[in-house]
Amino acid sequence: MPKTIIEPFKIKVIEPIRMTTRQERETHLAEAGNNLFALHSSDVLIDLLTDSGTSAMSAAQWAGLTDGDESYAGSRSYYRFERAVRDLTGLKHVIPTHQGRAAEKILFSIVGGKDKVIPNNTHFDTTRANIEFSGATALDLACHEGDDFSSDYPFKGNMDVAALREVLETHGRERVPLVMVTITNNSHGGQAVSLENVRAIREACDEFRVPLFIDGCRFAENSYLVKLREPGQRERPVIDIAREFFRLANGCTFSAKKDAFANIGGFIAVDDDELAQKARNLLILTEGFPTYGGLAGRDLEAIAIGLEEILHEDYLAYRLRTAEYLAEHIRSEGVPILWPPGGHAVYLDARRFLPHVPPELLPGQAIACELYLEAGIRSCEIGTAMFGHTDPQTGHEIPSRMDLVRLALPRRVYTQSHFDYVAEAIVDVYKRRDRLRGMKFAYQAPMLRHFTARFEYV
Ligand code: F0G
Repeated sequence: MPKTIIEPFKIKVIEPIRMTTRQERETHLAEAGNNLFALHSSDVLIDLLTDSGTSAMSAAQWAGLTDGDESYAGSRSYYRFERAVRDLTGLKHVIPTHQGRAAEKILFSIVGGKDKVIPNNTHFDTTRANIEFSGATALDLACHEGDDFSSDYPFKGNMDVAALREVLETHGRERVPLVMVTITNNSHGGQAVSLENVRAIREACDEFRVPLFIDGCRFAENSYLVKLREPGQRERPVIDIAREFFRLANGCTFSAKKDAFANIGGFIAVDDDELAQKARNLLILTEGFPTYGGLAGRDLEAIAIGLEEILHEDYLAYRLRTAEYLAEHIRSEGVPILWPPGGHAVYLDARRFLPHVPPELLPGQAIACELYLEAGIRSCEIGTAMFGHTDPQTGHEIPSRMDLVRLALPRRVYTQSHFDYVAEAIVDVYKRRDRLRGMKFAYQAPMLRHFTARFEYV
């Protein structure tokens, strides 16, 4: 049999995408203040802004939508959803939310607050924001192997367990209401977390009697990376690996917009009866009755079916090969990237890509804009524009720890020729990188500035 890993589906419904000229794109980008978030999606050819909520649903999921039970209370679709989540996580209480950050908001409204400290391998922005909004401190304890972007180390998403122990020793269970681990580690290059690492985190949590929560948005991709990369895991069905991850935890938050192939949705699942009760009470305030939590019955169907489909091994082999294929292609042409690729995205290292543009002049934003102008591709700066800040005294830009450009891969949406096109565009831009200029803010909001900022070239 041929060895090529193919898209394990055929296409039944298509959505046309529109070619534009460079001149048109220059006008669109100028009108958007050089901020890709401000573009109309109809002016984008290949949209790699995010893998969140952008999946193509299967025929079974579309059929599930028709079958959705829209009863206010006790919906049949809720019970199907609850079974799917319980089967995967083993957790007793399953509480639907309209997306991941709503689950985070509820969880940290209960366990957060002044003087509390919440460690994670790396908090995603909305997780950090919800923790800080509650008055608590969010700590990132990423392992140091992740600092080297080019090594082959397979689990750069891991947590530094020695650092976690120190945090637990310093603050104790009085101040650390829970430990979190995010799989895969999105804010740290979408890197995988090993089972060994989560087992060691669990051990530390047990010693200090602190519960462990998983942010499981991309659990299936992480589980398959474990199967491929972690000694002793090759022969295990990926569903077993996924179940083990969740069974190491006392609870989880989840965005169904990633590894559940849904366009909207999320949940919080916990074992603790008291925590569940409090969460349901808050849920009623902002999301809705506990058997729909901000979702329609049809969304719950789509998520239940998606959670089962995402663990098909042919799909996961194709999914991870796609990221690897794009990464290998551009890396072989010398483009500096974060290596090895994770599951949902390929990240360009903007500081090595544009060494003549200092971090204060937003090299990632410059590359992201040029990829759009060159080829109609929308990517996302994850660097100084997003995480840096302007010193109020001096007006100088304080750069973030790294400057990356994320090319996120929507699930089941683009084919191999789309990725050949993307690779070609990146390599073309890289070849004339000397001519790219830096950028600066023309306008910025006081919080989460990257969404609404306007930029100009220097
Ligand atoms: N946790 C992680 C690890 C995430 O990547 C996201 C979302 C969330 C939580 C929040 O979930 O969007 O459903 O509220 N990440 C998206 C992204 C937005 O583009 O990486 P949400």
